[in-house]
Amino acid sequence: VGRLDAAVVVVTTAVGEERSGCLVGFHSQCSIDPPQYAVWLSKANHTFGLVDRASHLAVHVLGPAQRPVAELFGSRTGDDVDKFARCRWSPGPAGMPMLDVVSDWFVGRKVAVIDHGGDHVGVALAPIAVTCASSGRGQVLHLSDVAFFRPSHPA
Ligand SMILES: Cc1cc2nc3c(=O)[nH]c(=O)nc-3n(C[C@H](O)[C@H](O)[C@H](O)COP(=O)(O)O)c2cc1C
Repeated sequence: VGRLDAAVVVVTTAVGEERSGCLVGFHSQCSIDPPQYAVWLSKANHTFGLVDRASHLAVHVLGPAQRPVAELFGSRTGDDVDKFARCRWSPGPAGMPMLDVVSDWFVGRKVAVIDHGGDHVGVALAPIAVTCASSGRGQVLHLSDVAFFRPSHPA
């Protein structure tokens, strides 16, 4: 799996004034028609705590320039710090907190939560809004670029 060297994304969500988000390496498109995308969230994460109540999630595609925000969302936990007080963000579609430094993203409506008994749950998303300012070009941030980050939780 390490050889696959997946891209990493930042997933954010909000329920009212509660906000959360984390760096995610487990994610992929999971349906073509209808278009759907799945992200897998650790049950140990603060972000997971909002998933049941959240109606939508936002998926941010990162490039090398977004390494600092990747480190913030991948190495710190909302259990201890307010990550959104440490970065620039704006309210986006469905009230999702969108990271200002990220130009490629989508917001998806939660259509299913998959708990197969592992330490992560899958959240299937149906995109409701998409921005691709890079026109699909440019480098993305990979697991190998952030291998030295220390996740805030063990799983
Ligand atoms: C390279 C890397 C990949 C990660 N992939 C995932 C993932 O796929 N799913 C997940 O839930 N957490 C993943 N994490 C861990 C979370 O991003 C990390 O524990 C984060 O600090 C949790 O924040 P939270 O507790 O505020 O939700 C990853 C972390 C790193 C450094």
